[in-house]
Amino acid sequence: MTKDQIHHIQLTETFVKKTLESAEGGHDWFHIERVYKNALLISKKEDVELYIVSLGALLHDIADSKFHNGDDAIGPQKAREFLFGINVDSVAIEHVVKIIENVSFKGGNVARKFSSIELDVVQDADRLDALGAIGIARTFNYGGYKNRKLYDPSIQPDLNMTKEAYKASTAPTINHFYEKLLLLKDRMNTKTGKQIALNRHNYMEGFLGQFHAEWNGEQ
Ligand code: ADP
Ligand code: NI
Repeated sequence: MTKDQIHHIQLTETFVKKTLESAEGGHDWFHIERVYKNALLISKKEDVELYIVSLGALLHDIADSKFHNGDDAIGPQKAREFLFGINVDSVAIEHVVKIIENVSFKGGNVARKFSSIELDVVQDADRLDALGAIGIARTFNYGGYKNRKLYDPSIQPDLNMTKEAYKASTAPTINHFYEKLLLLKDRMNTKTGKQIALNRHNYMEGFLGQFHAEWNGEQ
């Protein structure tokens, strides 16, 4: 990487930290930092432009539509303005914006409109932070933030939601494991991502087994 590129990454870190100062616990700076670390780890085994992966990972949740009245355009727009302001070249800006536009799960029934190895890496890195112990913690934190029930056996998970239904869902938090988190291991893009996802997936399966046992008054 050039000196300028390293400087851009530093400026981006500072911008993201400041912007996400009062974000919900599962989408705060520490989420970004973990995703960034995951992305660097996966990148060791992939032939990627590290500059693009870094900017994409750092900016991927700069304005999540969940926290902006469902508006998908704000995040990409904010990223574009920021990168333009620090003189990142337009080809890099457009690539990073495409990553931000396409990284999200949104129920999993939406076809990806753009493809690059850098997007693959950032998406895997973000997905890994939705799995395992951190994934469980983030999920219940989000459910609490939204005042959701932990679990309600009378409300079944819905695996065929549209993007709109997925966004509007107010189902209990446990349903999110079946509607999204347990599906992620089969949707990983890279080999390294898939390996780590499998470990974290098994940990969540163990947690759910124990959860249901305790729910039913078993040991
Ligand atoms: P995506 O944008 O890829 O759909 P999200 O930002 O919605 O991903 O999800 C990130 C994390 O936020 C999830 O892994 C989960 O921990 C939490 N989360 C999001 N939606 C829900 C939900 N409906 N119930 C519980 N947790 C959620
Ligand atoms: Ni994220």
